[in-house]
Amino acid sequence: MGETRLDLSRIQAARQVIDPVFLDTPLYRCEALEPGLGCSVSIKLETANPVRSFKGRGTEVVASVLADNGVRAAVCASAGNLGQALAWSGRGRRLDVTVVASRHATVAKLDRIRALGARLELVDGDHEQARERAAEIARHEGIRLVEDSLDIETCTGAATIGLELVRTPPSFDAVLIALGGGAMATGVGHVVKELAPGVEVICVQPLGAPAMTRSWHERRVVTTGPTNTIADGVAGRRPIPEVLGDLLLVADDAVLVREESIIAGMRMLLEHAGLVVEPSAALGIAAVLEDRDRFAGRHVVTIICGGNVDPAAYHGWVHA
Ligand SMILES: Cc1ncc(COP(=O)(O)O)c(C=O)c1O
Repeated sequence: MGETRLDLSRIQAARQVIDPVFLDTPLYRCEALEPGLGCSVSIKLETANPVRSFKGRGTEVVASVLADNGVRAAVCASAGNLGQALAWSGRGRRLDVTVVASRHATVAKLDRIRALGARLELVDGDHEQARERAAEIARHEGIRLVEDSLDIETCTGAATIGLELVRTPPSFDAVLIALGGGAMATGVGHVVKELAPGVEVICVQPLGAPAMTRSWHERRVVTTGPTNTIADGVAGRRPIPEVLGDLLLVADDAVLVREESIIAGMRMLLEHAGLVVEPSAALGIAAVLEDRDRFAGRHVVTIICGGNVDPAAYHGWVHA
């Protein structure tokens, strides 16, 4: 593997600054899912924590570095989970957090950002417009801009999931990772490639939000028009060049899945695993559903990376 921006010793050290509530999450074989998927399946469960997603791992590292440097205010753009996590991590460190999100973001996520004491600003456009506005606020107010996936701490924090996956010699052949900005895929991918190089690292995005996957295949940044997916956590249009560079070094493949498969994955996780997950967290299961032959007889692990849903929308998807 070539040199990524990540570093194994920094990832190991990050465990010391991340609140234990986000660490050592359940990793288990979920046999009830297997008949429907035709392969062995393990789950790494990242939803049972105060912000209901893996993003707390990264924001704990971000917030601890900011606090150590005497930074008192920060702003980030978010589809909802990063903002919620930064609000949580900032609250414990007396950091004033501003979150910029799309007006169309998941209401449950926006409500939790406010409830955690962050200032929330909504923009009329999508996540890319929120990114622009957050940068503008940082410039005007002279506060720190936290950029998910670009700021290495967000990747380092997410990478601690990888340490937990390979802690014992892994019995699985492939890890399926939801791909958005890329913090999780580059972080986990880096650790897996360093410590368990035989395990295939497969990133998964929706067909309706394919920018990073297309970029990976073309080995250059490809931007797209408006996204069209229920998987709000991964719906970016403008990949970050540095993150793509890392992804090219650690990912073995990047695949796109249909919305129907994401919904089928959410339904399977509810019915066979008892898990309420948001669409982004069902991408790995969707990838198996769409390519059973590829995974037949193999053992895959998928990261169940978030569970923040609006109940009515969730009900509409899963029970329709
Ligand atoms: C639930 C969920 N899954 C996946 C992702 C994508 O992660 P990343 O942006 O690190 O690629 C996010 C991003 O916020 C998310 O909230």
